[in-house]
Amino acid sequence: MIEYRNVRVALLGAGSVGSQVARLLLEQGDDFAGRAGAGLELVGIGVRDVDAPRDVDLPRELFTTDVESLIVGADIVVELIGGLEPARSYVLQALNSGADVITGNKALLASHGIELFDAAEQVGAQVYYEAAVAGAIPIIRPLRDSLAGDRVQRIMGIVNGTTNFILDRMDTDGSTLEDALATATALGYAEADPTADIEGYDAAQKAAILASLAFHTAVPLAAVHREGITSVTHDQVVAARKAGYVVKILAICERLVDDEGVEGVSARVYPALVPLSHPLAAVHGAKNAVFVEAESAGDLMFYGAGAGGVETASAVLGDLVSAARRHVIGGPGVAESTHANLPVFPIGRVSTRYQITLDVADQPGVLAEVAGVLSEHGVSVHNVEQTSGATPGVTVEGDGVATATLIIGTHRARESDLAATVAALKNATVVNSVTSVLRVEGA
Ligand code: HSE
Repeated sequence: MIEYRNVRVALLGAGSVGSQVARLLLEQGDDFAGRAGAGLELVGIGVRDVDAPRDVDLPRELFTTDVESLIVGADIVVELIGGLEPARSYVLQALNSGADVITGNKALLASHGIELFDAAEQVGAQVYYEAAVAGAIPIIRPLRDSLAGDRVQRIMGIVNGTTNFILDRMDTDGSTLEDALATATALGYAEADPTADIEGYDAAQKAAILASLAFHTAVPLAAVHREGITSVTHDQVVAARKAGYVVKILAICERLVDDEGVEGVSARVYPALVPLSHPLAAVHGAKNAVFVEAESAGDLMFYGAGAGGVETASAVLGDLVSAARRHVIGGPGVAESTHANLPVFPIGRVSTRYQITLDVADQPGVLAEVAGVLSEHGVSVHNVEQTSGATPGVTVEGDGVATATLIIGTHRARESDLAATVAALKNATVVNSVTSVLRVEGA
């Protein structure tokens, strides 16, 4: 039996992920020790309430409410409390005392990442956070290490399981958004307050983390453009499938060069049309996937469980073994790389393709007038489809003039030009209504 030196691990939080981390550490600690070259000694579990019900039976003597004392003397602190405070203070205390930190706290990293990484660098410690984005899926280490010798051009991620479940239900069984959300809540995917999921806040935090890593640039959460799924209608989802697309809410991180030749990056979250032939279109239910386009490696896709206690514990424990190994080897932690320091472009400077659906008067000259509006704003038409009759979901009032539905697909256009185009279309006399504007991604 090999005798390893022990690394002291303090666990903060014993929720669905924390309790599984503790269980696996206690059950499989010998295996982990063999991989790390160090024993992983769970010295305590810091919680608010020692007697709160837990998913897993764990030795009572491990629990303490004295979190600050637990942090003192730990070599590695695993923060799985979530939220900004007291998590931020505990993480700073741990780093300032020289401990490495493992966290799954995307909100904390997206809002205070720079402060935490600076604190780690000051003392040569390291922050590990594989569990913060897309649960069990290895994506942080691939971006930070495996692709360190490549140039990531673009990431398109389905990084929120709740909203992917809702949109998938709307697509596959015709549910309304409200019904699909109720099912997501009943199945335990959605929180009691689903705002962070359906309004895209959760995905925006993950986009900030992914973009910062991929482009070696600090991307603040405030610079991430965010639109949720609450405006996605059943009619849009049905029309999308008819046209060969599926609606997915994506976190997009992109390296781009704008019209003035300036290189920058964009991080944005919105529902978009994804071609049915794209690998992301096959991501169903509450699953997550991250599609990475790299200059040399080409297209890569990382797929799996984006949430769940034991699944996310896998990512945490992988970090724990890495951190313990580093303790054995010694030397300072690897600092976050922000050397590229590229400007983060606002959404108006981003270009993509769009699909605009209009309800129009079905009479001579209408198509020409609509095409004229697009042309005036520098937006080039890629394809047009017209069907007679009102757009599904639109009630046309009025004098009996025949109506038609016009679906216009554009070439890549600048977001600000597209916004001006849509505003002008709304005012055009031949247009009864602009019934849908969706970006097309991955085409
Ligand atoms: N609420 C998230 C989701 C899980 O639905 O994917 C944790 O990020």
